[in-house]
Amino acid sequence: MDLKGKTALLTGGAGGIGRAVASRLARAGTRVVLWDVQPQALQAAVEEISKDGFARGYPVDITDRRQVFEAAERVRREIGLVDILDNNAGVVFGGDFLQCSEEQILKTLRVNVEAVLWCTRAFLPGMLQRRSGCIVMMASAAGMLGVPKMAAYSASKHAVIGFAESLRLELRGQGHDGVRVLTVCPSFVKTGMFEGASPPMLTPWLDPGQLADKICDGIRRDRVHVREPFMVKLVPALKALPYPILDRAGDWLGLNSTMDHWQGRETATSRESTQRR
Ligand SMILES: NC(=O)c1ccc[n+]([C@@H]2O[C@H](COP(=O)([O-])OP(=O)(O)OC[C@H]3O[C@@H](n4cnc5c(N)ncnc54)[C@H](O)[C@@H]3O)[C@@H](O)[C@H]2O)c1
Repeated sequence: MDLKGKTALLTGGAGGIGRAVASRLARAGTRVVLWDVQPQALQAAVEEISKDGFARGYPVDITDRRQVFEAAERVRREIGLVDILDNNAGVVFGGDFLQCSEEQILKTLRVNVEAVLWCTRAFLPGMLQRRSGCIVMMASAAGMLGVPKMAAYSASKHAVIGFAESLRLELRGQGHDGVRVLTVCPSFVKTGMFEGASPPMLTPWLDPGQLADKICDGIRRDRVHVREPFMVKLVPALKALPYPILDRAGDWLGLNSTMDHWQGRETATSRESTQRR
């Protein structure tokens, strides 16, 4: 896909990876539309990205289905049809499953899964109409294998991967070859979301800009997956190991203890949820 002259909409575009992808797209000549639930961060991101190209921001809480469809209609009226949808927004609450509050579990599923379905329903028809488009599904390495102390998050990212795979095959079966689905599975990225976590062996922290370059490249080249860093590409092979060996390999690589000291980011949402625990 030639990025120049296209329109991209990024959910959670005011934050780490989304903002880095938006900056790169704007520099490549893509018109960038950001949705985010944090109005101040959104304004700051739009101001910064506008220095490189076209950027507009809309405060939207993507867990509210009605807001998603109303804002999508506004974008269609004010900006036009969307060529690239980056389902980027996500949240995580680390900790033992029974210690996470019901609010945290629901929020994880609403932001990371439900909202991805609603945003896709809002923008896919326009892409089908024009027989062209790309839907980026921001999953995670934790969607390819289970990780202790992030059970709800891992469940949500497994759901995203299942959704992406099903939708991709459905579109292929219907002959919509011009509408692509790109699934992104990074391990740990230095945005603050996983502050305090310890990445497993041979899996260094990724820089958001470095990952954003790979995502833009994936969109440009019609790729099906972006899995970073290299160790993540080996996960399907690792999962073919018999379970006692896989479990020990996870212990040895430090995979099963990555979240032991997770703190996350001190946001209003995380403070509030931690207090409710
Ligand atoms: N950071 C990592 O290590 C990592 C690793 C793998 C996958 N991911 C995934 O990448 C994506 C981006 O992660 P990040 O590290 O940039 O996160 P981030 O917290 O830096 O940014 C997420 C953005 O989403 C926004 N958001 C949250 N809830 C929202 C809602 N209801 N409506 C609208 N916007 C909302 C936040 O305001 C924030 O700006 C997420 O889906 C995350 O699960 C991140």
